[in-house]
Amino acid sequence: MIKFRQEKPGDQLAIRGVNVQGFGTSEEADLVDALRQANAIVLSMVALDGEDIIAHILFTEVVVTRADSRFTGIGLGPMAVLPCYQRKGIGSRLLQIALDKCRRLDYDFVVVLGHPEFYSKFGFSPAKPYGISCEFDAPDEAFMVLELRENALAGSSGIVHYRDEFRNA
Ligand SMILES: CC(C)(COP(=O)(O)OP(=O)(O)OC[C@H]1O[C@@H](n2cnc3c(N)ncnc32)[C@H](O)[C@@H]1OP(=O)(O)O)[C@@H](O)C(=O)NCCC(=O)NCCS
Repeated sequence: MIKFRQEKPGDQLAIRGVNVQGFGTSEEADLVDALRQANAIVLSMVALDGEDIIAHILFTEVVVTRADSRFTGIGLGPMAVLPCYQRKGIGSRLLQIALDKCRRLDYDFVVVLGHPEFYSKFGFSPAKPYGISCEFDAPDEAFMVLELRENALAGSSGIVHYRDEFRNA
C-alpha cells in the first residue's frame, strides 16, 4: 500500500534519489537541497512503498510583482515519481493530498511550470488570462495557476518571481 506523509529528517538522500531518477539529471535534486538548506520549503511531501520513498513534491514561496504592488503565493515544484512507479496514479494522489494541505496554509494561490496534461486535471489553468506571467521563458500553456480560495486572483496581475535558488539551478 502506498502511503503519503510530510518530509522528515533523514529523508534527504532518498528524496534526492527520486529527483535524480525522476528527472534523469541532478539539477532538480540540487535545487531541492539548496532550498532545504535555505529554509525555503513551505511544504515537502513524499509517497512511500513500504519504507521506500518513491515520489516527492515540494512547494516554495513565490512573489508576484507589478509596478505598484507585490503579493505572495506558493510555487509547486519540483515534483517527481521514480520511473518504475510513474503512470500508476501515485503522482496524482500525492499532488491531491499536498494541495489539500496547501488549502489549509495561509496562501491564496499556487503556480506551476509543467506538463499541462497533468496539472490541468487538478484545476490548474493557464496563468496568462489572469494577467500573471512567469519570470522564466515558458510556453503560455505550461505556466499555470490554481486559486486556493475562490476568486483569490480577481483583479490581480503581475510577474511571478521564484526564489533565487531557482535562478541559480
Ligand atoms: C509528471 C509526474 C510527476 C506524474 O506522476 P505520475 O505518478 O507518473 O502520474 P499519474 O500516474 O498520477 O498520472 C498520469 C498522468 O500524468 C500525465 N503525465 C505523466 N507523465 C507525463 C509526462 N512525462 N508528460 C506529460 N504528461 C505526463 C498524463 O496526463 C498521465 O495520464 P496518462 O497516463 O493517462 O497519459 C511523473 O511522471 C514524473 O515524475 N515525471 C518525471 C519528472 C517530471 O516531469 N516532473 C514534473 C515536472 S512538471
